Amino acid sequence: MNLKGLKITWLGHATFRLETPGGKTILIDPWVMGNPMCPESEKNIKKLDVMLCTHGHFDHIGDAVEIAKKHSPAVVGIPELCGWLEKKGVKNCSGMNKGGTQTVGDVRVTMVHADHSCGIYDGDQIVYAGEACGYVIEFSNGVKVYHAGDTNVFGDMAIIHDLYAPDLAMIPIGDHYTMSPREAAYACKLLKCKTVIPMHFGTFPVLTGKPGDLQKLVPGTEIVEMKPGQTL
Ligand code: NI
Ligand code: MN
Repeated sequence: MNLKGLKITWLGHATFRLETPGGKTILIDPWVMGNPMCPESEKNIKKLDVMLCTHGHFDHIGDAVEIAKKHSPAVVGIPELCGWLEKKGVKNCSGMNKGGTQTVGDVRVTMVHADHSCGIYDGDQIVYAGEACGYVIEFSNGVKVYHAGDTNVFGDMAIIHDLYAPDLAMIPIGDHYTMSPREAAYACKLLKCKTVIPMHFGTFPVLTGKPGDLQKLVPGTEIVEMKPGQTL
């Protein structure tokens, strides 16, 4: 699809770096240095304006504190997760909740539902961190991208289509902790996106779902299999 100046780089797992047509850099789910799928050349974040966190599991916020302290981006997450990040010394948090939209950098960000857990394993404790979420991001060029976070398929993905009509969706397919290709195919049916980027597969042996398995189930959808470090 034509991204009209937006650049999307997959850093492996659920982590994406987006460069907006206006020159801002957005990082979704900051698991970079500790992410075994992230290429070495991508581990040194050079610039960051906005950080979006979907939930409190280590494979999504594992490097959030370190990266936020270094680059001072606007940090978006559900309020309880932002509260934990602030306790760890992160500034510029802008907590929001599902259904809300705010402008950060040069994009409009809407927080949407995800069907998943959200506790933070902090030392020997599990800290309550609100609920897992996804995001719909609207860029100044009109392109709309949905990042589902970790989730099972849920019927209200139809509402995400009806209200926001994302052009492109990043959805988990790995199985075990999230949807497998079977549920992800149903998600494609509800979301009606022309283009889908599968994520959250292959990082660990239990994440067995494969983009090719999803493509077979949804022949009418363009399933884009990215390589970690690749840019669209
Ligand atoms: Ni998770
Ligand atoms: Mn995960």
